[in-house]
Amino acid sequence: MEKKAAAERLQELRAQIAQHNYRYHVLDAPQISDAAFDALMQELLQLESLYPELVTLDSPSRRVGGTPSSAFQQVRHFLPMLSLENVFSEKDLRDFYLRLQKNIAAGQISWVGEPKIDGLAVSLYYEEGIFQRGATRGNGYYGEDITHNLLTIRSLPLRLKDAITAEIRGEVFISREGFLKLNECREAQELPPFANPRNAAAGSLRQLDPTVTAERPLDLFVFSLNGIRGIKFPATHWETLQYLGALQFRVNPHVTLLNGFEEALDFCRRMNGLRKELPYEIDGAVLKINSLDEQEQLGSTSRAPRWAVAFKFSAEEAVTRVEDIDVNVGRTGAVTPVAKLAPVLLAGSVVKRASLHNEDILKQKEIMIGDEVLVHKAGDVIPEIIEVLKEKRTGREKPFLMPVSCPSCQRDLKRLPGEVALRCLNPACPAQLIERLVHFASRNGMEIMGLGEALAEQLYTAGLVEDVGDLYSLHKEDLCKLERMGKKSAENLLENLQKSKGNPLHKLIAALGIRFVGDRAARLLAAHFQTLPRLVAATKEELLSVTEVGPKIAASLQEFFGQEETQRVLEKLARAGVNFAALPGGAAGEVEKGLPLQGVTFVFTGTLAQYTRREAKEIIEAKGGKVAGSVSKSTDYVVAGENPGSKLQKARELGVKIITESDWEHLAALS
Ligand code: IVH
Repeated sequence: MEKKAAAERLQELRAQIAQHNYRYHVLDAPQISDAAFDALMQELLQLESLYPELVTLDSPSRRVGGTPSSAFQQVRHFLPMLSLENVFSEKDLRDFYLRLQKNIAAGQISWVGEPKIDGLAVSLYYEEGIFQRGATRGNGYYGEDITHNLLTIRSLPLRLKDAITAEIRGEVFISREGFLKLNECREAQELPPFANPRNAAAGSLRQLDPTVTAERPLDLFVFSLNGIRGIKFPATHWETLQYLGALQFRVNPHVTLLNGFEEALDFCRRMNGLRKELPYEIDGAVLKINSLDEQEQLGSTSRAPRWAVAFKFSAEEAVTRVEDIDVNVGRTGAVTPVAKLAPVLLAGSVVKRASLHNEDILKQKEIMIGDEVLVHKAGDVIPEIIEVLKEKRTGREKPFLMPVSCPSCQRDLKRLPGEVALRCLNPACPAQLIERLVHFASRNGMEIMGLGEALAEQLYTAGLVEDVGDLYSLHKEDLCKLERMGKKSAENLLENLQKSKGNPLHKLIAALGIRFVGDRAARLLAAHFQTLPRLVAATKEELLSVTEVGPKIAASLQEFFGQEETQRVLEKLARAGVNFAALPGGAAGEVEKGLPLQGVTFVFTGTLAQYTRREAKEIIEAKGGKVAGSVSKSTDYVVAGENPGSKLQKARELGVKIITESDWEHLAALS
């Protein structure tokens, strides 16, 4: 393509990509598939590589890659980034209002209510509509240039529809779900988890390598605009928010125009009620006077504007005592300190323990045994010690030192290079074996209800179970001999174990506790290999050909399946009849390479839209499955097309799984 044509096409591509980004990341209403989007992006990258001189500051390629830097540049803010005055009760809010009323001529004050997002303030600088750079708040006057990391936030527009020069401010955050996923990922990689979404966002914004930041689910809401040039200044804050929305920024959907103090108060109450349901954390509601004239009239102190106030919600925090500090040996040998707390009710549950993550955190927070501490739930889920109430110390508190040997098997602990955690490297360490049992039975694993930490320990100590393979040969008589184990509980456990044998393959893979293989990787592996024996036998190249499986996961899988101990466990599981296939009916313990639909029987009823019966049959048979004419107990699936006949009724009576044509297509395509 000639340069002129390339320039035109690039301009078109930039506009299209920006529009699709906006639809996807701001409006949550994509119009094209991910693949079609990728194709546009590829085309742009290719053209830009041919004509590097045509790369512009608003090109979406600016979001790709980026080189790690060794430090952040200091940036002076256009106007100081102020903080907000906080109030903690309705009475204080009323006092704030009364004080304010004296200084404003207006009768009824019009406000804008906004949720107070618990993230980090950022400033975004646009020149003639093009995003130039972004910075953290820093000390309010100088912040750090974090442009590369902000570029990973897809809802941040690179070019505005108006060529304005302005500074826009907002809050960067990570959603609760993003936080939990990020931590899951980190745990699978044995990296220390983030304590809460805010820390995760802060850590990500200050990452030196933007490719790492790109994997963090950062998001942004904007809430203020300082116009510099080329702008028609809005008269109210509400108009400002509307304008920011029109510029295609993400503005929080809960912002509300409020008339008079009572409505403002009511907004704070409503937000407090909504707090738990929001997909991100908020720590209060912000009230801002709507009229910009009035804002100017009131002005600011050196710390905060007089025209705004943050109504802080009472944090779900509680005070309790650290009764002891234990060390926990995880299933991979990582040793973590855990605080044993005097039981305390917090956000709906009794908290007795809080992980201290690692020795560094213990030191940093200066936690001693006997300390009174303030606790909360990070991401509303994980109990965490916020701080020690040092003023409550009596002098009888005892410092805690990390052990030098494993509390379970007494072998020396090691700190591997590049890791924060101390580790017990003994594969036969009882604590690790017990944790592996617990993991196997956990919700992400085989979901064996009733098999928790306490029982796993009992089973191991009583010599009934040495590895997860032994779980399936437990007998009622043995179980009944255990302390606190009644006949009924023993029966329930055995029944749950029995049920778990039929779990889908991905649950079994996740349950094995292979390093770096969490729920997602397990699903991808199960979908790809269809049976466990095939996964076990996979070469490194085959493993690497699976979507999202990189060298680290591949090596970990090979190491795991190469161990003799793993072989022994898998044999036990196969003998017990645990399902080894992605589709029910696939032979348990199948050893030789079979076909993906081996042993699966389908019955068709009604007319298929896309296939003739004959075609469908051919597809199934090519993959090793069978098509039967009538429904029986041994039928795995009844595929119901248009106008299904009596076979459908029969399937319902027998409890055979009924699927649609597209479910079937999906199954057939997966295998
Ligand atoms: S307005 C001059 N609005 O809270 C007014 N701040 O405690 C500056 N924040 O630094 C801020 N949500 O990081 C404003 N809707 C919102 C906010 C918000 C969160 C943060 C912001 C600010 C801090 C002040």
